[in-house]
Amino acid sequence: MEEVQVSLLASATDFINLFFDEEGLPGKEERLAEIAREIELTETYTHTPEELEFGAKVAWRNSNRCIGRLFWKTLKVRDMRHLSDPELVFKDLQEHLDYAWNDGKIRSAISVYRPAFPGAAAALRIWNPQLFRYAAWTTAEGAVLGDPAMLAFTEFCVRQGWKGKKTAFDLLPTVISGSDGVPKLFTWEKEVPEVYIEHPDYAWFADLGIRWYAVPLISNMVLEIGGILYPAAPFNGWYMLTEIAVRNLGDTHRYNLLPLIAEKLHLDQDPHFQVWKDKALVVLQEAVWFSFRKAGVTLIDHHNAAKQFMKFTERESTEGRAVTGDWSWLIPPTAGSTMEAFHQEWNNEVKSPNYFYSRYHLGQPIPESSISDTERPFYEPF
Ligand code: ARG
Repeated sequence: MEEVQVSLLASATDFINLFFDEEGLPGKEERLAEIAREIELTETYTHTPEELEFGAKVAWRNSNRCIGRLFWKTLKVRDMRHLSDPELVFKDLQEHLDYAWNDGKIRSAISVYRPAFPGAAAALRIWNPQLFRYAAWTTAEGAVLGDPAMLAFTEFCVRQGWKGKKTAFDLLPTVISGSDGVPKLFTWEKEVPEVYIEHPDYAWFADLGIRWYAVPLISNMVLEIGGILYPAAPFNGWYMLTEIAVRNLGDTHRYNLLPLIAEKLHLDQDPHFQVWKDKALVVLQEAVWFSFRKAGVTLIDHHNAAKQFMKFTERESTEGRAVTGDWSWLIPPTAGSTMEAFHQEWNNEVKSPNYFYSRYHLGQPIPESSISDTERPFYEPF
């Protein structure tokens, strides 16, 4: 047997053991023998719908950087493995969005499209990091309008013929490539749910024209279950307040809004005492919170998210499992020390099944040399 087949069988065996043991199912030996035969014949194997569902959920449970794992069992797994054509995948993504959106009462879901398989020229891939992100435009003065994180992606879309409105919040098209590796661009037919940000106490806030999309839907991570890779397996949760208000709107390399908010609040931007930034951050958080509530869109604040995470760790220990975690990601970017989680440590070992970063960016493999050691274990395993 080829070496790849041996390691695939080994990964499959680990996963099947986990699945049958945890679920208390009969017939494990038969299933293992069946998989061994299938691998020998086809160099791959096919998960049953039940294995896929369990694998996708446990991959969430094993996501060291996710604070929202208490809800891992509620993940809706959409088994769409029969889809591999970019047009059909895009059509189906609109249905994923309908399910996830649920009129603002957001539900977590994953859509699993055709897995990678041996002999395929190229795997099915969604090139966007998330299905909804805003474009970045370089102005004549050299400033960036929009989300600077999306500069390269926007330039790519423009080279493919996409024309945005050139505002700070232009939703990018969806880029999907199938077995020919050729990227195809799609734009959303129905309106994408977004929340316009205002502040309960400051009338000027709404005039800033800030908004954010309601559903974070990660689309470039690779789901790995028992050695099988699903490079097209987009999943969504709901937002935690600080992701939008602190990071996306506040980071200097993102929307960088703190100086503007401070100016509007007439805060003294003293370089020797920069706590005006903390004040501006609180106002941004109040605004995002108020606006999502008003729009009836699910959002959780970081204090409650951290509480839920501690409940997750307790529940895991009752079930006899050790929680792995990445402290630097689990602790929210503000008020961390007020949370119980701050005062703990976790083992950051990467368990399988899991969600890995893709080795591909805009259709090209990322050079080994530019992958940092901390990120390495998170890149798709082969
Ligand atoms: N941090 C990312 C963003 O701000 C989203 C990551 C996933 N977040 C989630 N709540 N499921 O867009």
